[in-house]
Amino acid sequence: RSISLIVLLMLGLVLAAEPGQAGGHTLNILDRDASAFNREVRGLLAWVMGFAALVFVVVTGALVYVTVKFRRTGQETSEPEQTHGNDRLEVAWTVIPTVIVLVIFGLTAQSMFKLDRPTPGAMVVEVRGWQFWWDFTYKDHGIRNSNELILPVGKPVRFEVTGGDGANYDVIHSFRITSMVGTRDAIPGVVTHIEVTPEKIGTYYGQCVELCGASHANMRFRVKVVSQEEFDRWIEGAKAYQAAAPSDPTLVRGETLYKQQCAACHALKGVSQGLPSNPDLTFFGNRTTVGAGMWPNKPEYLEPWIKNSPGMKPGVKMPAFLNLSDGDVKAIAAYLMSHKVDGLDFSKLEKF
Ligand code: CUA
Repeated sequence: RSISLIVLLMLGLVLAAEPGQAGGHTLNILDRDASAFNREVRGLLAWVMGFAALVFVVVTGALVYVTVKFRRTGQETSEPEQTHGNDRLEVAWTVIPTVIVLVIFGLTAQSMFKLDRPTPGAMVVEVRGWQFWWDFTYKDHGIRNSNELILPVGKPVRFEVTGGDGANYDVIHSFRITSMVGTRDAIPGVVTHIEVTPEKIGTYYGQCVELCGASHANMRFRVKVVSQEEFDRWIEGAKAYQAAAPSDPTLVRGETLYKQQCAACHALKGVSQGLPSNPDLTFFGNRTTVGAGMWPNKPEYLEPWIKNSPGMKPGVKMPAFLNLSDGDVKAIAAYLMSHKVDGLDFSKLEKF
């Protein structure tokens, strides 16, 4: 039974290392092309799996050997010779596993120190986990963006990971960019660090990986790794961003409704300050998803989300606005989509 368990476990690890398909996107947590972080973890896993395979072969080999060699043959009538204790054997099976564990410990510690070493000049991004969404602040640039993280390819990023803000109740979350880097716990009142240099342009999946409540599984985000030039355009555009007073009648209606219904909670640069415990909507038009990475940012998802988010995602703190008419919801959605840095389309990026 223990052998079948081991086989199942190994099969599980093999499957976990395979590029899994989720709606056509790979979720390979050991993608060697995505980051040096993954390559380091991969190397470490190879050592651990190597030792595990060695132990498996030696132990099952010995088991099969003694079972066959000392099996009952039929002619025997008396008990076989009984032995008690074997110093050499006992020393060997104590020393060898100890050495294996020490080697694995040494390799792990080496990798941990290597990955934890801060890179001078790395861009600092504060990551804040909230039930059930993510907030990102580019500390070097003074820009805040929720649920979507835009990063330049080939540049080191240092994440300062935390949760809640002390003034509002929140729980422990955990930050992982599935096929690029992770995991680091997002603990209210504590700041932890993790660093990565993205190596491939594209869209990456992020996911909370600490059970945190009703919508733990729905606490996602997207990471857009773009060229340095595109990243600079995003940063410059975001810094210079000014919300223009709308003239289109739908947008005017949307703005009025936004100010009545949304402004007390949400920040939107130049329009409302909101509260830090709610997602920032300033660059909503640049987002590719709605509801913290849950649905594509399209009217058929955004409009019902505005009207009744608790009906779409359990545990969200935004109340339902069932009093809004379909026209009201469309106007708010259009108004939110009008806030963006022009000339950027992150939806075209390849997905990993
Ligand atoms: Cu946040 Cu799970």
